[in-house]
Amino acid sequence: MALFSKKNSTDVVLTGDRPTGQLHLGHYIGSIKNRIALQDKYEHCFYMIADVQALTDNASNPDKVRKNVFEVALDNLAAGLDPKKTAFFIQSQIPEIAELTVVFLNLVTLARLRRNPTVKAEMKQKGFGENVPAGFLVYPISQAADILFCDSNIIPVGEDQLPVIEQDNEIVDKFNTTYGETFRKIKPVLSDTPRLIGIDGNAKASKSLGNAIYLADSKEEIERKVMMMYTDPGHIHASDPGKVEGNVVFTYLDTFDTDKAGAEELKRQYRKGGLGDTAIKKHLIDVLENVIGPIRERREKLAKDPEYVRAVLSDGTKKVQAIAKETMTKVRKAIKIDYFANKDYAV
Ligand code: TRP
Repeated sequence: MALFSKKNSTDVVLTGDRPTGQLHLGHYIGSIKNRIALQDKYEHCFYMIADVQALTDNASNPDKVRKNVFEVALDNLAAGLDPKKTAFFIQSQIPEIAELTVVFLNLVTLARLRRNPTVKAEMKQKGFGENVPAGFLVYPISQAADILFCDSNIIPVGEDQLPVIEQDNEIVDKFNTTYGETFRKIKPVLSDTPRLIGIDGNAKASKSLGNAIYLADSKEEIERKVMMMYTDPGHIHASDPGKVEGNVVFTYLDTFDTDKAGAEELKRQYRKGGLGDTAIKKHLIDVLENVIGPIRERREKLAKDPEYVRAVLSDGTKKVQAIAKETMTKVRKAIKIDYFANKDYAV
């Protein structure tokens, strides 16, 4: 593609968050950590705050979405996404994404949208039934526009997003066969832990289930949540042999404890008996505080400087606006709606 001229740097990384709440350890381990690693490997990296997507199921809550644009920007900056390497931008400020969405809407059937497992699961969770907002049902299509308007092809996401990326690749194929080779295929990049279980043992840590530990949580909040964690209900006395499988404390240690040998030794002792729940929970609190402590500290500092955060978002958005214009020129030409691009255009 001609958008980027540097040698060996045609790959473009793009990722995004819906600004519907603060981000938690599930986001961190499923996607944010990967974004931070990828920004050092790739020349072109974008981070989108998907406010238009957030509005698809929060249409009557614009204040909530606006407030959380700032919160998720803080979370990502504090976690280490560096605006010098990754352009931060706000989806709604790129009208070309909306324009591209309208073009893509014609390439996907309603039946296919209804079959998308991610959309299906989210619709069920939100209790929409037949009263699903049209914008919500079609968000995988606007997500294709999010990705393709800047020619991105490498997408770090959580596991739940795979069916969306699959559908977006179908849009790439359909567009290219209908209007000529224009977009390239996109690759999702999963982390080693694409999904984190909740502190209650539920399959997924999520805001709506109230079972997540947030990147902004205080030390006391972390302590309180770890102390609530589901362990082995059969492990009543410290001397009893305990189960490690399905035990949330050990699952979190497997994910966050950098001392792998130490974690294995704790498991051995717990299985054998003689290691109490409080002891392993205390250890996990230290491990999590090591991850979250520095993020929380940077977050608090950044929160006191909203002008800086605003400048990061506005600079990144300007950079991306220019790219969006180039893509749409190409797309309008491909679908033959570039009427006034040339003086001699023959209708
Ligand atoms: N749907 C994503 C989520 O809920 C957020 C998102 C919007 C996104 N646009 C994107 C992710 C483009 C990757 C690429 O997490």
